[in-house]
Amino acid sequence: MTAKSLMKQATQTVTYDIEKIRDDFPILKQQVNGKPLVYLDNGATAQKPQQVIEVLDQYYREYNSNIHRGVHTLSEKATGAYEAARLKIKNFINAESIQQVILTSGTTASINLVAQSYGRSTLKQGDEIIITEMEHHSNIVPWQMLCEQTGAKLKVVPINDKGELIMEEYESLLNDRTRLVAVVHISNALGTINPVEDIIKLAHNRGIPVLLDGAQAVPHCPVDVQALDCDFYCFSGHKLFGPTGTGVLYGKKALLESMPPWQGGGDMIRTVRFDETTYNDLPYKFEAGTPDIAGVIGTGAAIDYVSAIGMDNIAHYESELLAYATEIMSAIDGLTLVGTADNKAGILSFVMKDIHPHDIGTILDQHGVAIRTGHHCAMPVMERYEIPATARASLALYNTRDDIDHLVEAINNVRKVFA
Ligand code: ALA
Repeated sequence: MTAKSLMKQATQTVTYDIEKIRDDFPILKQQVNGKPLVYLDNGATAQKPQQVIEVLDQYYREYNSNIHRGVHTLSEKATGAYEAARLKIKNFINAESIQQVILTSGTTASINLVAQSYGRSTLKQGDEIIITEMEHHSNIVPWQMLCEQTGAKLKVVPINDKGELIMEEYESLLNDRTRLVAVVHISNALGTINPVEDIIKLAHNRGIPVLLDGAQAVPHCPVDVQALDCDFYCFSGHKLFGPTGTGVLYGKKALLESMPPWQGGGDMIRTVRFDETTYNDLPYKFEAGTPDIAGVIGTGAAIDYVSAIGMDNIAHYESELLAYATEIMSAIDGLTLVGTADNKAGILSFVMKDIHPHDIGTILDQHGVAIRTGHHCAMPVMERYEIPATARASLALYNTRDDIDHLVEAINNVRKVFA
């Protein structure tokens, strides 16, 4: 760390032991292309602390076994650890009960579950689903598929130039045919934090349920599903410093109870006969087949990890880092930030005059700086800004002002290469 950056860090107002936090992430200690790794691709996936890695290692070394099926000691231990992780998730998002915490393979699977179970069983020709122009493909395509299956229509709330939802347009789209509103909590491509409380209230005034895609929110700010009063909330474990292959669908109990199972198989049944099958209780009704047991236990460890730091502290720290990064990146000649919402999380999408984002990403990688380039699975956002792609630096709890300085230094090098 440079002396200049140390000074900058000392002026930060947050009491946050960043050196200790960074020390927990073994992957951050390496060099990439001869330079210390600066990992700024947290929107795609976050790195894992030692505490999570150890739990995975321990599971496979000591008690790898299937859950809910065996009476032997290892199986009981695995079941206990798996269900303990579900309880941690319930407490983390303040769900009313563990029955409302459905474990899935990720945000995408959670949204598809709602589309194919709730959506398919309730929507019909002429019904409408409202999404927004800033959705990730995983909160667009499942609804398009549902519309093809049911004859329902998709309505899209537009965004303004800053990347904020135009709320008047949202209000005017709500009508007697609207059956569901599905909105991203924090945009992965723009960083916009949506006014989800208002979105939910307006929909509820008309008795319309709301699904929130929380994939980019849960790792960065406190989420309380009861306070939000959302009907469904979806997120992934891997962006929350847990393993890949795990996710959560929270739902209001009455809705989940009324919904038919989606995938059939082991564990989701009570009895199976050729003339009739009966289904298991919540949450197991929606959990067919052997899940990623180690992954879920690891996600529980990740929740312990972030909870010990405190989600409020993380949100505060990242918000200061975002302000710092925004200020110095905005001053770079020829660089334009895409997504400048007043209420924003740590995502810095940008374009540079006459330089393709893939070239930016490749040169940054030569400097050890990892970012994502492309459409970020949000092609309609690119269309909105009439650009093919952006370069995107996305922050997490372990990033520092020094990381931002390295990013800026590498961007200045991109400018030199293309000068
Ligand atoms: N949805 C992830 C991202 O934004 C993969 O990069």
